[in-house]
Amino acid sequence: MGYCSVRTTERRRGDLVSHEAFSSAGCPFIISLFRLPDPHPVSPPELPETPLYPLLHTNTPVPSMTYPGFPFPPGTPLYPSHEHIEAYHQRYAWHFNLTQHIRFNHTVVASSWTAGRWHITFHDHKGQTRHKVFDHLVVASGHNNIPHIPVWRGQKEWLGNIPAKGLKREILHSIWYREPQKYANRSVVVVGSGASGRDAASQISSIAQKVSLKLRTGRGGLKFQRVVDLPFCEGRP
Ligand SMILES: Cc1cc2nc3c(=O)[nH]c(=O)nc-3n(C[C@H](O)[C@H](O)[C@H](O)COP(=O)(O)OP(=O)(O)OC[C@H]3O[C@@H](n4cnc5c(N)ncnc54)[C@H](O)[C@@H]3O)c2cc1C
Ligand SMILES: NC(=O)c1ccc[n+]([C@@H]2O[C@H](COP(=O)([O-])OP(=O)(O)OC[C@H]3O[C@@H](n4cnc5c(N)ncnc54)[C@H](OP(=O)(O)O)[C@@H]3O)[C@@H](O)[C@H]2O)c1
Repeated sequence: MGYCSVRTTERRRGDLVSHEAFSSAGCPFIISLFRLPDPHPVSPPELPETPLYPLLHTNTPVPSMTYPGFPFPPGTPLYPSHEHIEAYHQRYAWHFNLTQHIRFNHTVVASSWTAGRWHITFHDHKGQTRHKVFDHLVVASGHNNIPHIPVWRGQKEWLGNIPAKGLKREILHSIWYREPQKYANRSVVVVGSGASGRDAASQISSIAQKVSLKLRTGRGGLKFQRVVDLPFCEGRP
């Protein structure tokens, strides 16, 4: 949501307004601050307020996540859990009083550059459509908020073909993944070897009957016990 942009921009003269679609500030980390486990768990296709899952730790070290002049507290682990990150961002916002500039529950729906100024259309917290004009526009809407869900040949038949005495089959994007316990004694294929795929595969492998990790390209070399790499998986975008 651009805490950093707000902090940097507010040092300059002029009015500053940040529109945030969610009711709590921020990046996926911040959104979850008071909300894990999800207060309102949702099922697809409704999008969750946070992609975070309780066992999440950062995959980047603290020094690379530190804002200039605002260190993490002493004793913070090098790769902390999401709670440390949430608390850090919350302190950052409080310390610099950034939330005074943020309008929560305000969703930007359109912008245009007309006569040398930015014309912004947004839905406010009461659901009303409003317009405002600005000299500058910073777009910090993120790129992990809308899941990309490929479609595989035969998936409809696979989903419908429930084995005798078997549980219902399911395809779930990682944005809805929360607890490995759900997969106890089940056979699971994880598609994708990004951080989400690798983290989910390693967590689920401790409890599932079998976990396979499908790779489209060669980001293999994964050394998880009980996770089988299966190369060459590709769905239609
Ligand atoms: C599961 C997971 C784990 C991650 N772990 C790490 C990690 O360990 N280390 C690391 O460095 N990064 C990690 N990341 C990536 C990190 O979260 C993102 O890079 C970072 O949050 C991007 O910040 P941002 O401000 O650009 O976007 P976001 O944090 O996505 O914030 C965008 C904000 O814009 C708001 N918004 C979107 N559209 C609109 C609209 N139309 N109107 C108003 N508001 C809108 C959204 O509500 C959101 O609050 C992780 C991501 C995920 C999903
Ligand atoms: N802190 C943590 O531990 C943690 C946990 C989760 C996420 N994150 C962060 O969140 C961000 C997103 O990570 P992500 O893992 O969710 O996404 P990602 O890095 O974009 O990885 C997506 C994976 O899905 C595969 N894929 C995409 N479309 C496919 C298709 N049609 N068929 C088959 N495979 C397909 C990709 O394959 P290709 O490689 O071939 O494209 C890739 O392996 C990253 O910044 C990541 O670091 C961090």
